[in-house]
Amino acid sequence: MRLVSRVVMVAAVCLAACSDLGDPYLYRADCDRSTGGMDFGQVALGHFAERALLVANSGNTNLDGEVTLSDSQFTIVSGGGSFSIPPDGNIRVVLRYAPVDTGFDRAVADLGTGCPPVDLAGTALPPPEGPQCVLDPTSVSFGAIKINQTAEQTFQVRNVGLIDFNVDAQLIDAGPFEITSGAGFAALDPGDTLRVTVKFAPTVAGIYDTRLHIGSTCDTLAVNGTGSPPFTVSFAGQLQPIFNSRCTSCHSLNGDGGLDLRAGFSYANLVNVISVNYGVPRVIPGDPDGSVLYGKILGNPVFGARMPPTGAALTALQRQFVRTWILEGANNN
Ligand code: HEC
Repeated sequence: MRLVSRVVMVAAVCLAACSDLGDPYLYRADCDRSTGGMDFGQVALGHFAERALLVANSGNTNLDGEVTLSDSQFTIVSGGGSFSIPPDGNIRVVLRYAPVDTGFDRAVADLGTGCPPVDLAGTALPPPEGPQCVLDPTSVSFGAIKINQTAEQTFQVRNVGLIDFNVDAQLIDAGPFEITSGAGFAALDPGDTLRVTVKFAPTVAGIYDTRLHIGSTCDTLAVNGTGSPPFTVSFAGQLQPIFNSRCTSCHSLNGDGGLDLRAGFSYANLVNVISVNYGVPRVIPGDPDGSVLYGKILGNPVFGARMPPTGAALTALQRQFVRTWILEGANNN
């Protein structure tokens, strides 16, 4: 079959153009490769790089061959085996470099009959040492914002290593924090940056503190902020009147628990003064929950009996005044 068509072709060509019937007609397969050398670049151990090679036939008969590689760190991913490329046809061969030892590697891809070989090269690097993941900044601090207002901050997660890693940004105990962009699963390639935006929207005054987990390759990130009350409490204006009406019957000169809450004496008896009975400051500016005064009016059993011990508890608003005054810094205002 093949022989017959050759004979016919020779005859046809010569009828049209041969001046000298003695010239032989040449059948040739011409091999065109997309490259004579393939560089796989730098690859960390445990990873691989792939490149494609195009082999075309610009001749007038089939190009037959088979790709063989001289080093087992290079393998054929697709397009391997023996091939027969018709005239004007081509095949695509995908090669992989998956190094097993560090260093520079060289190999040859032999394409079989009629094709010059293709040089292969790659450099194997040791697995990355040190940090792969850089957080910038390394924590997110909102400072103080008024309650019922919101603030947003963005940080970056950068892959500064040589291999990709997975991220899955999520808050541990979200509270008033929320990830508004960059949450969830993503693969981060070397050199890539993920931007994660965190929103802080406190509705209750207080100090909030949590952590943001990014993935096993990255450190967790501290996230904190203070929700400050939308109003300012005055010690003289709001707290002293409470003391006068509910406390000074027991807490005046040589008062119970060594505490004098009379106007003119109260402030100096409270702020950063160690409690006689509980060994910690009566008022720690910024920290109502650690302060004996606030614990006492709440009835926190850590600080003994609720104050005042007789009659009704302080109202929610009165307790809020004390809490807010401490959060705002326990000023003598
Ligand atoms: C009926 C008397 C009485 C009244 C009224 C009273 N207290 Fe007391 N308070 C005491 C006694 C007794 C102690 C000591 C025992 C204890 O620590 O519970 C004390 C202790 C305290 C202490 C701890 C002092 C220390 O350094 O250990 C604080 C703070 C306090 N009271 C705050 C208040 C406040 C604020 C009010 C008003 C809202 C108030 N008390 C009203 C009787 C009273």
